[in-house]
Amino acid sequence: MFLSHLSLTHYRNYRHLELDFTQPLTLLQGSNAQGKTNLLEAIFFLSTSKSVHAVQEREVVDWQAGEEPIPYCRVAAQTQLDGRTLELEIILTPRGDGINFTKQVQINGVNKRSMDLVGLMRTVLFLPEDIKLVDGGPAERRRYLDIALCQMDGAYCRALSAFQRVVTQRNSLLKSLREQELSPTAPAADAQLAFWDEKLVQHGALVMARRHNFIRILEVFARDRHAELSGGQEQLALNYLPSFNPGMLADPEFELYCEGLLPEMALPELEPAQVADAYRRKLAARRRREIGAGTTLYGPHRDDLRFLANDRDLRAYGSRGQQRSAALALKLAEVRAMTDSTATAPLLLLDDVMSELDAQRRSTLLSVLADVPQAVVTTTDWEDFTPEFRRRAQLLHVSAGTVQPYQQATQPG
Ligand SMILES: Nc1ncnc2c1ncn2[C@@H]1O[C@H](COP(=O)(O)OP(=O)(O)O)[C@@H](O)[C@H]1O
Ligand SMILES: [Mg+2]
Repeated sequence: MFLSHLSLTHYRNYRHLELDFTQPLTLLQGSNAQGKTNLLEAIFFLSTSKSVHAVQEREVVDWQAGEEPIPYCRVAAQTQLDGRTLELEIILTPRGDGINFTKQVQINGVNKRSMDLVGLMRTVLFLPEDIKLVDGGPAERRRYLDIALCQMDGAYCRALSAFQRVVTQRNSLLKSLREQELSPTAPAADAQLAFWDEKLVQHGALVMARRHNFIRILEVFARDRHAELSGGQEQLALNYLPSFNPGMLADPEFELYCEGLLPEMALPELEPAQVADAYRRKLAARRRREIGAGTTLYGPHRDDLRFLANDRDLRAYGSRGQQRSAALALKLAEVRAMTDSTATAPLLLLDDVMSELDAQRRSTLLSVLADVPQAVVTTTDWEDFTPEFRRRAQLLHVSAGTVQPYQQATQPG
């Protein structure tokens, strides 16, 4: 898969951009606040149908779009795969309320659901703030897992979306049951909940099994990368931390595992059916508690992912350097896992990450660029890259939302 063309209209500070990608490597240079991140974010948006952070979609619409008769925002790309061209497009148009926007997705000119877009142009995005995956909250890590998994696995994406709808419905039912102060064992509560429980279990079990299995694979690759980054001093472990035991261990061992007290061991793969059994039992046993809370307490929406280096939790005890290495190792592992599972390497998007990294981390990161068919890399400083690297790349300069080819003749070095 090769991204050959990007077209932006009223996307953030880009009034109008038509950009051809001509080389496996694109290097985009510009000072701060010129549009480097915005350009990568636009590609990521087409790839995942999600904005980079969980920002409101309307935030990506150019402030100046309002001066148009119809203030729309459009992001479109052409990709090449096996000699065929694929056209991907997202258009945001204002709703009647004047605040929100409607998202319309087209693939080869045909209207589709957002979900259909995901997986057609797979990307892995590296940001300076990736360290948040290690030191931030669990929602950040779930979002990370979801974006990675959705790109590889359509069944996951459908199950996740269905699960999220079911949780919302089930939560409002639990809340109303709490307000009615129904006895949790009353037949009415049972009958109503049984319907939603089964849907919750069906979709949630698939999500949990896939996350667990994915983390097992990520761990193997991330461990190698982390060892390399730490000069062989540290062994990285990734632990899937679900809100109940999905059958990954015997119950007493599972408790130790959650406390970080179980010695490192290889965990078996999980099947959705096995998780479903454990999930059903958990819900049945905790029905009273859930009604009391008026919310769904168990399931993938409460999952977390833990990073350990030499058995120490990096979120609590890691230095900035260790956390940065672990986040980088995770992303590099994702590239490998995605390449293996889909038989094609993802498009790499590296946003101004070089300046943050020391020599060892830089060279580890640059080594993956050699393994992928395409990467788009941004920088404020050409000097972050060797002349040899720059010679291989398509060089672009961005200034105030305008992208121009960079003159080789005046190139430094
Ligand atoms: N919705 C928007 N409409 C117009 N301009 C925007 C919008 N959102 C952000 N910007 C502008 O985009 C610029 C930041 O671009 P960014 O890609 O983050 O820069 P950098 O090159 O530093 O990565 C800022 O000047 C900001 O004001
Ligand atoms: Mg930026």
